[in-house]
Amino acid sequence: MKHLVAPSVLAADFSDLRTDFNMVNDSRADWFHVDIMDGTFVPNISFGWDIVKTMHTLAKKPFDVHMMVAQPERYIEKFREAGAEVITVHYEACPHIHRTLQQIHATGAKAGVALNPGTPVSVLEDLLEDIDLVCIMSVNPGFGGQKFIYQALQKIRKLKDMITIKNTNTLIEVDGGVGLQNAEEVLKAGADVLVAGSAVFKSDDPKQTIERLKNIGREGIYV
Ligand code: DX5
Ligand code: ZN
Repeated sequence: MKHLVAPSVLAADFSDLRTDFNMVNDSRADWFHVDIMDGTFVPNISFGWDIVKTMHTLAKKPFDVHMMVAQPERYIEKFREAGAEVITVHYEACPHIHRTLQQIHATGAKAGVALNPGTPVSVLEDLLEDIDLVCIMSVNPGFGGQKFIYQALQKIRKLKDMITIKNTNTLIEVDGGVGLQNAEEVLKAGADVLVAGSAVFKSDDPKQTIERLKNIGREGIYV
């Protein structure tokens, strides 16, 4: 499968979202990555479901909603109603992760689990059959524009092996500090979805950056 690119709207221009959304709509990006931060699970606060609903009216591509939220099960239906196609919760925020995955699936959304840099991929070993996407955090969640943590690469490789052994269709998403400088390594390690915030929206030509991220192959060949 050719990898997907999901620009993170956290890095978009909030005074002119329409322009940035149109750019993504017209680009080769696959999804919008939408970061929800609650000021408790992570130190930062972003926005809630009403804003997501409004954003969704501007978007022509699926919403990949990343909930950096304590007790996310309180809000899953809200984000689904707001337009989320993929709903990702943090493993660290869910004492009953299996139940939370069932809750996400019951809404009709795809279910994702995100892992902080300090959480090993082995915790997901007995859950992979129930997970559509694993989001490997390559920064500590809470802020855009941070530096990629290189230990994420070995986690991607381990997870890829686990998925191959279990023979599931789970996608590996990588989130935080991803850009043209490391996309090839990240893909080579086994990633299927590249999230890129600053690398896209803070670049001189965001649409072209998306194009270049799409064109990087696992072998480093521009296809
Ligand atoms: C971090 C968020 C990321 C962030 C990525 O907590 O989950 O999605 O927006 O931004 P960059 O690509 O700038 O690191
Ligand atoms: Zn994110």
